[in-house]
Amino acid sequence: MTKPPLQVLLCAPRGFCAGVIRAIDAVEQALSIYGPPVYVRHEIVHNKYVVESLKKKGAVFVEELDEIPPTDAPVIFSAHGVPKAVPAEASARKFFHIDATCPLVTKVHREAELHHRRGHTIILVGHAGHPEVVGTLGQLPDGAVILVENIADVHRLADEASPEFLAKKLAFVTQTTLSVDDTQGIVETLKLRFPDIVSPHKEDICYATTNRQDAVKQIAHTVDALLVVGSANSSNSQRLKEVSERAGCKNSQLVLRASDIDWAPLGDIRKIGITAGASAPEVLVEEIIDAFAERYTIEVETVATVTETMFFPLPRELRAIQEPMA
Ligand code: F3S
Repeated sequence: MTKPPLQVLLCAPRGFCAGVIRAIDAVEQALSIYGPPVYVRHEIVHNKYVVESLKKKGAVFVEELDEIPPTDAPVIFSAHGVPKAVPAEASARKFFHIDATCPLVTKVHREAELHHRRGHTIILVGHAGHPEVVGTLGQLPDGAVILVENIADVHRLADEASPEFLAKKLAFVTQTTLSVDDTQGIVETLKLRFPDIVSPHKEDICYATTNRQDAVKQIAHTVDALLVVGSANSSNSQRLKEVSERAGCKNSQLVLRASDIDWAPLGDIRKIGITAGASAPEVLVEEIIDAFAERYTIEVETVATVTETMFFPLPRELRAIQEPMA
């Protein structure tokens, strides 16, 4: 039986960002230097395939430090960042801890601290409960940072604000993996309701989030369906699916790997777009292309919007060990 033709448009950039590469490298380097086990607090990046691969090599994933017995083994904090209480607890328990927080998340932490030192109350735009948000809130004492998730939250904050609150100096920071378009609306509302609010020097939404969303916008309105390769708990992957739907592709799916694809709505499509969240490995994109090749006669084209050159060196605890002795 002849297979129907299918044009596959691959978004570029897609998949691993510099912060994810650094975090995964940190676990692999720690495993190769110290041997297993290496403890990792929270999924090092939000991708089940990556986590399972590292588990097979000897990484032990925990949600909290109290799950770790007394040990000399390295303890690594995930790319999403951690509240200040976490390294403090690790030091108190004499753990050799390695911070794999993405430098672009650390930048937001330092920004929040700077605003706090200058006497500002900080508004954080982000998703409640996401580990990055928990980490950013935990950089400062309780109450110093107020979380808003959407435009309604901003209006509520302004409508219910006491005269004392309105007299405060305000600044805002954002989670790094938000929808660029949604955030623009929230920021405009913040500026409207709090005209003196101080903005970040440079956009907090990171280059990788922005570039992956731009690449999806470029093709979403031209394809019959779009697949986002990524974990259901990956914020930037979820946003890519939303961006695709808003850009006109109602037939969008977020899938961890080929076995998750819902083939029913893909029946007679002629053109599909594929992208991958910042924590999704390319091997899963290849697996998905192979799955399409089994059902269709595919023609693959890469649609590139920008070339990424960002690179982050390993966390300093591992750099120091890697550098040759003088
Ligand atoms: Fe960092 Fe952005 Fe990746 S914050 S971990 S470069 S998605």
